[in-house]
Amino acid sequence: MNTLKEILLKKDNTCKSIWFMRQAGRYLPEFQKIRSHNQNFIKLCLNSKLSSEITLQPIKRFNLDSAIIFSDILIIPHALGQKVEFIKDQGPKLDDFNLEKFLDTNEMEFLNELNPVYKAIEITKKNLSSNKSLIGFIGAPWTLMVYMLNIKEDEKKIDLKKLEKFDGKIKLILNKLIKFLCLHIDNQIKAGADVVQIFDSWAGLLPDKKIKNFCYEPNAKIVDFCKENKILNICFPKGIKEKFKNFNEFVKPNGINIDYEIEPKWAKHNLTNVVIQGGLNPKSLLENDEKMFEGATKYIQTFKDIPYIFNLGHGLLPETDPDKVKRLIEFYRNY
Ligand code: CP3
Repeated sequence: MNTLKEILLKKDNTCKSIWFMRQAGRYLPEFQKIRSHNQNFIKLCLNSKLSSEITLQPIKRFNLDSAIIFSDILIIPHALGQKVEFIKDQGPKLDDFNLEKFLDTNEMEFLNELNPVYKAIEITKKNLSSNKSLIGFIGAPWTLMVYMLNIKEDEKKIDLKKLEKFDGKIKLILNKLIKFLCLHIDNQIKAGADVVQIFDSWAGLLPDKKIKNFCYEPNAKIVDFCKENKILNICFPKGIKEKFKNFNEFVKPNGINIDYEIEPKWAKHNLTNVVIQGGLNPKSLLENDEKMFEGATKYIQTFKDIPYIFNLGHGLLPETDPDKVKRLIEFYRNY
């Protein structure tokens, strides 16, 4: 049984499944080994063979129920002609946004650049047992814009003045992003992805008066595209607190990943007609086993009688001990 798909189709209330955001990545020594020979991160994402190998690393190690393709949300600005670099311990650095170049990139150029991602999905699908799901993903338009327009001041604040400088062009930018993100989703599904996750990691930075235009509406357009094409989808509007409810009612995704600020009981009562995923604070995996299990129990208990996908409230932290991940999975499986 392909549990993630089954759950999202709400076939069975007792159906459960487990995977982790950022399960393929820096906390795994087998990833670090490959990474140490591949200094250019974007190039590594576009190496189909290695991308597929990295995707399968956590599946081999932990026997998780789903694999998420190894790539990055910033592969999109890269494919739209904006240079993206990852500087060690500093995170991503993008060249200045060039509207003309952005608007000039056509579908063929875009898909040509991303073709290795689709190849990686094809290879992975062949090597993944049929009872597991393969997850494709995109960054939501707002989160991509935060990086592309370089409007983040720090982890908690955007530079609204900088954003307003683009005011007249915002619609143009959003529409092009939505169109090309749908294209990327479609091609990931055609290559063999079973589900897509839409990461709006910086939704929580939006002021209330901008959240509809920049978060709800773009996510809704992408989810509508998915629905028209029968593509199962999971949204992750991180950091929007009680507005998770409005988001869910406006966007109506198949699944919604809650973050660690959302109380599971609140989510159960307020997020209806959707499958809930995640929630556990990734910092729980840095605590002792007892505390970690206590944290996990809260989610497992709360969601025991409805479809639920066990996951975190954000990605696994690079300093996580892989053995901790193993014990958390064992605990979940034995519960
Ligand atoms: O395992 C997986 O989840 C699949 C691969 C994946 C990566 N990035 C690989 C990666 C996925 C799904 C992402 C999504 C992503 N990328 C998001 C949304 C989820 C989230 O965490 O909020 C965001 C905001 C990005 C942008 C990004 N990519 C940043 C800010 C950074 C640097 C710091 C960090 O968070 O890791 C990256 C680099 C990146 N993406 C790495 C990996 C494994 C680390 C690269 C390295 O080795 O230096």
